[in-house]
Amino acid sequence: MNENIIAIDGPAGSGKSTIAREIANEIHFRYLDTGAYYRAVTLFLLEIQKTSGNPVFSEWIKIQDVLSLLGKIKIKCEFSESDENLIFLNGRNISREIRTPEVTEEIKYIASIREIRNFVNTELRNIGFSHRLIMDGRDIGTEVFPDARFKFFVTASIDARAKRRYEELIQKGFSVQLEQIRKDMENRDKSDIERLVAPLKKAPDAILIDTSGVSKDVVKQMILSELRK
Ligand code: CDP
Repeated sequence: MNENIIAIDGPAGSGKSTIAREIANEIHFRYLDTGAYYRAVTLFLLEIQKTSGNPVFSEWIKIQDVLSLLGKIKIKCEFSESDENLIFLNGRNISREIRTPEVTEEIKYIASIREIRNFVNTELRNIGFSHRLIMDGRDIGTEVFPDARFKFFVTASIDARAKRRYEELIQKGFSVQLEQIRKDMENRDKSDIERLVAPLKKAPDAILIDTSGVSKDVVKQMILSELRK
């Protein structure tokens, strides 16, 4: 049983990252956003594809030697005071670039490649050796740390999640439409749930939390009371 890892999995917009960050602060764990790793790999590959002459990312990625490309990637996560994760790709701070709609759209082709998942999992487990972490993602409790002492599966209705994500992006200064966000989210849910490798699913021993219509503080208290048990 791994006492140093708390796994919080669930779909986009369920509120898990904000809650995970705040709880980490309270219990003196670090917060790690594992989606940022998939975003960083996607950004790296998109940048290479753009110089390749093939304009279609999903076509281009199929004919790549993924393992040799992964050998050129160094991802580093720095923990800031407020437990924001600063993500560096080969020394460059890409924390903002990885949030663009383009990266979000193309990530599904990346997250379904076994070699890429193995690469990210190794990075995540290495950080897990030296820190006490709350990790949020899709497969932390099922694949990355199936031995985590605490596992939560945080979800909410599609309407609640789309609204949450819309407000988050507007606040970050991105220009987005609610309807578009909702549609993109539905597509991403579908590819996360249906992919053959490490699909999004609740671990049998994870605690299910539905955050639709529930305030962030109430969800936080629910999780904290489980942790105190
Ligand atoms: O922030 P948001 O919930 O939109 O997504 P994210 O956590 O940044 O993750 C982006 C995408 O990366 C997800 O839709 C998954 O396809 C993939 N991902 C994954 O496959 N496994 C993880 N542990 C984390 C993210």
